[in-house]
Amino acid sequence: MTELQGTVVVTGAAQGLGRALARAFADAGAEVVAADLAFTDHPGDGIRHEICDVSDEDAVEALADRSAARSGGIDVWVNNAGITRPAMLTTMSVDDFDRVMAVHARGTFLGMRAAATRMIAADRGGAILNLTSAAGLAGTIGQVNYSAAKGAIAAMTKSGAKELARYRIRVNAVAPSVVTPMTETLRTNEKLRDRFLARVPMGRLGEPEEIVGAFLFLASSRAAFVTGQVLCVDGGLHMAS
Ligand SMILES: NC(=O)c1ccc[n+]([C@@H]2O[C@H](COP(=O)([O-])OP(=O)(O)OC[C@H]3O[C@@H](n4cnc5c(N)ncnc54)[C@H](O)[C@@H]3O)[C@@H](O)[C@H]2O)c1
Repeated sequence: MTELQGTVVVTGAAQGLGRALARAFADAGAEVVAADLAFTDHPGDGIRHEICDVSDEDAVEALADRSAARSGGIDVWVNNAGITRPAMLTTMSVDDFDRVMAVHARGTFLGMRAAATRMIAADRGGAILNLTSAAGLAGTIGQVNYSAAKGAIAAMTKSGAKELARYRIRVNAVAPSVVTPMTETLRTNEKLRDRFLARVPMGRLGEPEEIVGAFLFLASSRAAFVTGQVLCVDGGLHMAS
């Protein structure tokens, strides 16, 4: 897939979906920069790792500078880093609300801005990929903070897509449903899994390897006329009532 040659930055890439994305982009021929708060092991061949807190403006700017320095630009930036701090609305602390918003909403804003600035300067177009969620589209009980942040990301995707189209920069989002360390209880807690799967038309859990194809497509020239989209890769979960 020569069309994916170039520099790809993936945040939150030490584990879960981000790690699978970093691997998939490297396998497709890209120079991958995997960023996270920490790494316990090396993510693999063709992948450089960088320490970066996506909620920290200076850290994101430094990550973008180092990533762009290699090949004179950034071609794809994936805003994947995320956390959850679930609590019911009536007991949710301001800190739990602010922290989730800082990592997801501010982190995605900082990543989009850092990527767009370098992409415009290099004048070779680009793709920005954001992570939203069924929570951001339909709301989730016990996750007002996460739902708010993911809703904001869906809106930023569309706003960014309109603003950046003139520079040949496309902005799209994926709303996945996938078993990762973030959602591991879906595998380990039988009751929770059964309740969850009752809402999934395809009736099973998704694996990270099943999600990466949507990102490779949206990043590639095969999606050259696709922008402002939220692609749900979730076995139909987003249609659950
Ligand atoms: N797993 C799902 O079903 C699901 C569903 C919808 C959306 N998402 C989204 O997909 C993305 C990846 O989720 P995942 O399931 O792989 O989660 P995960 O918890 O397995 O991985 C998230 C990664 O983000 C990193 N991270 C957290 N805060 C960070 C920060 N401030 N700076 C840099 N890195 C940070 C973590 O260290 C971790 O490596 C997230 O944005 C998540 O909200 C996941």
